[in-house]
Amino acid sequence: MAEQHRGSTVIPEDKVREVAERLSIVDVVSEYVPLRRAGANYTGLCPFHAEKTPSFNVNPAREIFHCFGCGAGGNAFSFIMKIEGLSFPEAVKLMARKTGIEIEERQLTPADKQAQDERQTFQRINELTAVFYRSVLEQKPEGAAAREYLERRAASGEIAEAYRLGFAPDRSDGLVQHLKASGINLESALKLGVVRKSERGWYDQFRNRLMFPIRDTKGSVIAFAGRVLDASLPKYINSPESPLYHKSSVLFGMDMALPTIRTENSIIIVEGYFDHLALFRAGIRNVVATCGTALTATHTSLLKRHAAKVYLLFDSDAAGRKATIRSMELFMEQRLPAYVISLPAGDDPDSFLANNPVGAFRTCQDKARPAFDFFVRSLLAQTPPDSVDSKVRIIDELLPRFKKIADPVERDLYEKEICRLLGITTHAFRKRMGGMELTSRDTGGDQKQADQKGDSTQETLLSLICSYPEARAEVIKSDINNLFEGDYLELARLVLDTRANSDDDQALSHLLERIEAPGVRTLLSRMLVSEACMADVDWRNVLEDCIRSIEKKALRSIRNLTAQLRTVDPDSTEHTSLLHEINDLRTRKSKLYV
Ligand code: CTP
Ligand code: MN
Repeated sequence: MAEQHRGSTVIPEDKVREVAERLSIVDVVSEYVPLRRAGANYTGLCPFHAEKTPSFNVNPAREIFHCFGCGAGGNAFSFIMKIEGLSFPEAVKLMARKTGIEIEERQLTPADKQAQDERQTFQRINELTAVFYRSVLEQKPEGAAAREYLERRAASGEIAEAYRLGFAPDRSDGLVQHLKASGINLESALKLGVVRKSERGWYDQFRNRLMFPIRDTKGSVIAFAGRVLDASLPKYINSPESPLYHKSSVLFGMDMALPTIRTENSIIIVEGYFDHLALFRAGIRNVVATCGTALTATHTSLLKRHAAKVYLLFDSDAAGRKATIRSMELFMEQRLPAYVISLPAGDDPDSFLANNPVGAFRTCQDKARPAFDFFVRSLLAQTPPDSVDSKVRIIDELLPRFKKIADPVERDLYEKEICRLLGITTHAFRKRMGGMELTSRDTGGDQKQADQKGDSTQETLLSLICSYPEARAEVIKSDINNLFEGDYLELARLVLDTRANSDDDQALSHLLERIEAPGVRTLLSRMLVSEACMADVDWRNVLEDCIRSIEKKALRSIRNLTAQLRTVDPDSTEHTSLLHEINDLRTRKSKLYV
């Protein structure tokens, strides 16, 4: 419910519940997706990723949906948030209107009110500033040079309008005077970084620069970037971080891209404002740019919320390659498929599209290689594998990233390819890695949850404790830490807590709304829509089967670790830590019996 406070208003909890009770998730979803009944669920083609056979399920009894293809899941509100790109309060309001419920927003506390007022002031200042720069560019004599510049770069007219481009005049107080005349308290403008203050008084932050307003996903201006019109440095000056602007979580052009992102289900990421502009002009609209920073985990999780795959389109120089590889790692961690579009050496999107038709760009996009493939190739191009020494260096560069490949099939294929390219055996490769089958040690055990099928034993156990109080009691007795790990463990704890406090069958659906971690959420929604298969089983039999299977798995791990133990130096710290690990596993296993 953290989302509750994101909007400018707060909707009372009981109203949210009232709206929820009035809705049927099947009706809500049916407005967007044709559904067919299939047993206890309804199924259809998932609107959140491209698919040809339905893996999108809606469970009317639990009032939730889950897609077995992409892992999206939640209740009617999360469905609306995701498909309409709305915040939680906005989604509730939309559904309230449809069900005819009136929402009076809760009385704001003085602190809420003050924060809201300040936000509105900030927004007004940014809006005034954007309009001011825009008017200078469009109408004023001092905007002439910028108008010519944009003509030259084919970025005038409708393009300039779409981006709301502007020009900051070459005066020290153009904006200062404008804001003053509009009754703005300059101290607030200072917090946004559009004006500054010295002993001699107030002055403009941006002078003699072409201005790009940076907007949030809804299109409100939150910051600015200003480019010089010539070759002087610095090329860009950007707004500082402010209460409205956090550059590590903002992607330039997201508001313009969202409609196309939804239809394409993919996002192209570029580095520069002018790259974005060139693609936009060419009619390629599912594009975002970072704002002069490296891509962050916040960016990637934002991207993941909106599309099923991304294309990286960075410069083809060394810096661009480095940024590509760094971004690849983030996408691997997010498990969002990333592809690299390579343009001919020396080209950026702007120069490429100036000299080639859009079709030529599309061809490059069609030839985009998976990011990891790109990484392996550029590594080999950099360090030719022509000596033992260079091969070892290549493998050591590769391994940490290789281990992040979540999909077992992909992993297997890359392993073969790498070994072929390096002329080594898979045995040697695995040995260098320290026992490939043990990767869960490196990734904290969450590897298994990556593939859509998940760990069936832990999943069955979870379903069991959702449905059977007796199974819950047994599981609590034998300590959940021995039975679950990773996301499963987190979810098991939440389920036990929820069940301890409520007998209501909907309690677990409500739990879904409170979980923020995407992995855990996906697990729960998947489980809740598949739960029908757990009805009327002999819980004790199922529980015993699960425990036997966990025991077997522990045994396998112990064997693997023991095998690995033989390959490492007995005096090394690795040896000691392996021993510890084996011991822990043994202890855990011995505690398994119920
Ligand atoms: N950038 C920045 N500050 C700088 C230089 C670059 O913030 N001093 C960021 C900007 O977001 C810029 C991006 O890095 O868009 C890429 O830089 P560059 O390729 O130099 O700029 P472009 O916008 O592509 O401009 P142009 O096509 O005119 O070279
Ligand atoms: Mn550029």
